[in-house]
Amino acid sequence: MQITLSKKIHVAMIMDGNGRWATGRGLPRAAGHRAGVNTVRRIVEAAPEQGVGVLTLYAFSSDNWGRPKAEVAMLMALLSRYLRCKTPRLLRSGVRVSVIGRRDRLSAGLAAAIERIERETACGDRLRLRIALDYSARDAILAAARCATWDGITREDFAALVMGEPGLPAVDLLIRAGGEKRLSDFLLWESAYAELWFTERLWPDFGIGDLVAALADFRARNRRFGLLPAAAA
Ligand code: FPP
Repeated sequence: MQITLSKKIHVAMIMDGNGRWATGRGLPRAAGHRAGVNTVRRIVEAAPEQGVGVLTLYAFSSDNWGRPKAEVAMLMALLSRYLRCKTPRLLRSGVRVSVIGRRDRLSAGLAAAIERIERETACGDRLRLRIALDYSARDAILAAARCATWDGITREDFAALVMGEPGLPAVDLLIRAGGEKRLSDFLLWESAYAELWFTERLWPDFGIGDLVAALADFRARNRRFGLLPAAAA
């Protein structure tokens, strides 16, 4: 199926390469994560005019807890600052923020910042920004399976449990920066028919041009969803 420019799409991003970006410059890894936040800001601002309706960013995986304590603390502080300071700008840009993943292992301050930004940006209608934090797709599917106790549950019902709410579209395009070609426990259910786009570009260097290139490549693809071309069109 050819995607028209008017269809708002769901883009998911694995933001990899912050550490390598920093060490390649003789800087501490923290500098790479800070530069990564600047990329987030640029991409969030550019996304709506590029036809992106939902943007899901992988900020911290459940497996990332195994990193050195100092790096984990630094990442949590960065995320907390982003959520606290960016609200006015996100509101002006019509961005609705939600955070997916576990909350019970986050600090009380960070959990409160999440609740506040979700509440304050709830009316945003230009872009749905979903930040995956303490997130594991396998855990999300397992949690949904534990809730899905009724007979006759449909795919749509189960999808709503996995994604945390009904009506969200599946991932159309999954972009991974930083050169690796894997999914790393990110949106496994939602990406069943996602188109995949990998780039060697390290996340801090990822620019609007890269987003535009990924979207152009995506729009030129022939999505068949298991059907024959004529039936899918
Ligand atoms: C992977 O790079 C990146 C992360 C684990 C963190 C991503 C976080 C940010 C970009 C900043 C905060 C995000 C938001 C939404 C404000 P890596 O450290 O694994 O890099 P490496 O593979 O080069 O070591």
